[in-house]
Amino acid sequence: MHTLATKKLGDLVGVEVTGVDVDRLLTDDALPAALLDLLEQHSVILFRELHIDDPAQVAFCRRLGELALFPKYRIPEVMEISFEPDNPNKEYFASNDYWHIDGALDAIPAKASVLTAHVTAAQGGETEFASTYAAYDALSDEEKEYFGTLRVVHTFEAIQRLTYPNPTEDQVAEWASRAARELPLVWEHESGRRSMVFGATASHIVGMDIDEGRALLRDLERRATAPDLVYRHSWSVGDTVIWDNTGLMHRACTFDREKPRRMHRSTLIGTEPIQ
Ligand code: OGA
Ligand code: MN
Repeated sequence: MHTLATKKLGDLVGVEVTGVDVDRLLTDDALPAALLDLLEQHSVILFRELHIDDPAQVAFCRRLGELALFPKYRIPEVMEISFEPDNPNKEYFASNDYWHIDGALDAIPAKASVLTAHVTAAQGGETEFASTYAAYDALSDEEKEYFGTLRVVHTFEAIQRLTYPNPTEDQVAEWASRAARELPLVWEHESGRRSMVFGATASHIVGMDIDEGRALLRDLERRATAPDLVYRHSWSVGDTVIWDNTGLMHRACTFDREKPRRMHRSTLIGTEPIQ
């Protein structure tokens, strides 16, 4: 039986693993299974001031699963999240400020993301996490039944419009070139657990008046992200956080984008479509 020293960070979300260094993450044979288990139970795992570098982060993540590739980046397994002028995705990162699931528009969304703080904001720039398993569990029986029948259209435009409310024609055309996806509002996981799927990519509810559907989606998000349900992580340089992208939404908190903040993200590719 493997035991890791842990400390809960919140009632619903978050656990800190203590007394583990990079060397152990790379070599302990029992560790990957123990971490995946903690991720399923707590949705967010924190290693405080681990100071893992990119090659070690990639090697560690490979022990947990298969990694997504971001070919525009120096190391394709490591996406740099920053607003530095040479960052190829900088125009899209402002939308991280809205509650979202990574890869909600992909055929199979990411299983988990691993984020390490390399440069932190002097003020703000925390990351917040809210469990979408807890959001489902908090519904009334009637809501569980009704919401189980609803389907939601997710688009890139829906999330980008929050950042760019007056887009150019080129922006709208670029957004429209990305696949939209119709997903159930309630995800029945292979494990038997159920979570809710909404957030900033959710455009509207199928078969419902657009405004009425949007009001419902907004209300669900408000309930799921009430302050007492959220784990907010205030970063120190070297912190690494892993989140279960399948049962959780997250967002970045605002900070001065003229000043540096740089996070290095590796993404474990998903194993299960939302259904
Ligand atoms: C992400 C993300 C939030 C942050 O990397 O997917 O949403 O706080 N990041 O940088
Ligand atoms: Mn994200």
